Amino acid sequence: MGNTSAARTLPETTDRKILELLQLLSANPMIVVSGTRMAKQIGVSRHTVRHWVNKLRSLGVDVKGHARTGYHLQKAADVLMPGVLRRRLEGTAFGKHIHHFFTIDSTNDAALDMAHDGAPNGTLVLAEQQTAGRGRVGRMWHSEKSNGIYMSVVLRPVLTPVEAQLITLVAGLAARDAVAEQTGMEPDLRWPNDLLLGGKKFGGILTEMHAEPDRVHYVVVGIGVNVNHESLPSDLRAIATSLRIETGRTHSRGDLVVRVLRWLDQYYTQYLRQGGDAVLRRFSEVSSFCEGKRVRVATAKETFLATTAGLEPNGVLRVTRENGKTEPVLTGDVREA
Ligand code: BTN
Repeated sequence: MGNTSAARTLPETTDRKILELLQLLSANPMIVVSGTRMAKQIGVSRHTVRHWVNKLRSLGVDVKGHARTGYHLQKAADVLMPGVLRRRLEGTAFGKHIHHFFTIDSTNDAALDMAHDGAPNGTLVLAEQQTAGRGRVGRMWHSEKSNGIYMSVVLRPVLTPVEAQLITLVAGLAARDAVAEQTGMEPDLRWPNDLLLGGKKFGGILTEMHAEPDRVHYVVVGIGVNVNHESLPSDLRAIATSLRIETGRTHSRGDLVVRVLRWLDQYYTQYLRQGGDAVLRRFSEVSSFCEGKRVRVATAKETFLATTAGLEPNGVLRVTRENGKTEPVLTGDVREA
C-alpha cells in the first residue's frame, strides 16, 4: 500500500519494429529472407536489420544467416510478442493493453507507474529480463534473461484493501493451475505467495496496492516464474528451482503466460462475483500448508513453531502455537519446520 511516484521515466516499450522483424521471420520459418527485403519491408536500413537481429539473438532467438545472404529462424522464437498474446488472450481482461519490454528494472514498478497514470483494468506488463526484480519484504527476484516469466497486471477492483489481500491467493492459484496444466506436475502453494515443486520455490506473487482505508484505487499483481533456467545462482540452489530443472525439459513461456492469465481471469472474476469461499476452498485443497502443517513462523518481532489451522475468510493463515493458542499470521514468513 502507499503512494507510487510517476516521476521515474520508463524505458521505451519494445520497439514495434523489432517485433515486426521477428514476425516476418516467424511467418517464413526455415526460409531465408534477404536482409534487403526485410529492411525495405520494415522501412529501415540493412545495418539496422543486422543490429536488431543481434538483439534478438541476445534474447536467445535462434536466427541464422547474415545481412548479405539473408536470415532465417532456426526454430520458433519464444519471445512474448504482444501481437500473438493479444490474439491468444481474447475474451479475457488482459488482451487489450499489453506493454512488452526487452529489459526493465521491475514490471511491478512499471505497472505501478502506469496505474498511477490511469492505465485501465487488465493492463499487462511483460519483460524478457528485469534488472531490479522485487520479491516480498524487500527481497530481490532473480530475473534471468529470456528464461523466466516476469509479468505484472493492473487491476481496479471495487474492494476494500482487506478484501483485496485475497488477490494474492487468487494469482497463486492461477499460476499453480497453469503450471499443472502445462507440465503435468502438481505444484504446492506455500501461503501466501510461493509456488513450490519438490519443496523448492519456482515462482512467486507480489501484490501491491494503492488504496484509501476503505477503498482500493488499484492493485498491481506481479507474477514471477522460473521456467527454463538450467541452473540457479549458488545462493539460491538449495531453496529454488525451475520448471526445466524439475521436468528435465524446456517449456514455452508464451503458452504458460497465456495459461496463467486465462486462469487468473477465471479465478478473479469468480472472486469478484461470488466472494472468496471458492478461492479459499480451492487454495486449501491444493496447498499442503493450510491445515496441520508444522511450520516456523518468522515475524519482525519473533520466530516461533506452530501448526497451521486453516484460512480465515479474508485469506489470512491461522496457526496454533505450542502453548495451544490459535492466532492469525498477520505478517511474516511461514516455512515448513
Ligand atoms: C516473492 O516470491 O516474493 C514474489 C516474487 C514476485 C516476482 C515478480 S517478477 C514480475 C514482478 N516484478 C517484480 O519486480 N516482481 C514481480
